[in-house]
Amino acid sequence: MRELVFFHLSDLHLTAGPEELLFGQVDPAVNLRAVAAELRRMDLAPAFIVISGDLAHQGSPATYHALQELLAETLAPFGVPVVLALGNHDDRRAFRQVFFGEDDGERPYAYSQWVEDLRIIVLDSLVPGEAGGWLGEEQLAWLKRELATPAPRGNLLVVHHPVVHRGVSRLGEEELILRDRSALAERVRGRPVLGILSGHTHVAAAAPFAGTTAFTATATAFLGDPSTRDGGRMVTGAGFNLGTVRDGMLIVNSVVLPSEQRLVAEYRFSTRAVIVAGRSQ
Ligand SMILES: [Fe+2]
Ligand SMILES: [Fe+2]
Repeated sequence: MRELVFFHLSDLHLTAGPEELLFGQVDPAVNLRAVAAELRRMDLAPAFIVISGDLAHQGSPATYHALQELLAETLAPFGVPVVLALGNHDDRRAFRQVFFGEDDGERPYAYSQWVEDLRIIVLDSLVPGEAGGWLGEEQLAWLKRELATPAPRGNLLVVHHPVVHRGVSRLGEEELILRDRSALAERVRGRPVLGILSGHTHVAAAAPFAGTTAFTATATAFLGDPSTRDGGRMVTGAGFNLGTVRDGMLIVNSVVLPSEQRLVAEYRFSTRAVIVAGRSQ
């Protein structure tokens, strides 16, 4: 079987337009364009592109319209499926309205997408009003049925919240990880799953999970600092993962665009302090 290359982007945190900056200084659309330019430069003919959630920073219809325009400009020219998942910053209702003209509210956006003989299973871990993530029995039962149907080239799972910890222990790390990950592990173990792709932490990580490998990508909007033990530190910059399915295996490379990685926001769980660009709030 031929080698299959794909791009895994995450955490676009798009806003409705350049007048809405993240932390008063980061334009996430500029970052997405910079990442797309790097993807073009790589000249790799990807088979598909995955974006693992937090498409919007605040999920308003205006932001999803901006997302549609930006995807058309930056990723549609690759001419391959762009597989979208939702994250905790997204809004299912607004997303469905803008993308599909649907009005059925809070139904999880979970589905399978075939690319050649590979099945990509997108899960929806969004819990409205929460930073943490959860799938629930119904979605896990659907996943079990999907995985019971053969996929000649295996399955790839996409879920915004990581299923493994990002690295060094920290306060408040439960909100960084999928709550019902042990129930997910039961459905995945023994099944042909090449890997699980996540985002949310804005930090690249890889670890074994239920007989497969779990990967997180950095973010296109801003980067997380993996070394923080109390809360989080966010710095400017953009990155993505490059995936290769080869010889029945998934190999992932993490790519970060050159940047000065300037601190834009920091929060501490121990004191509940949030500091944005040097100001205490
Ligand atoms: Fe995010
Ligand atoms: Fe997130």
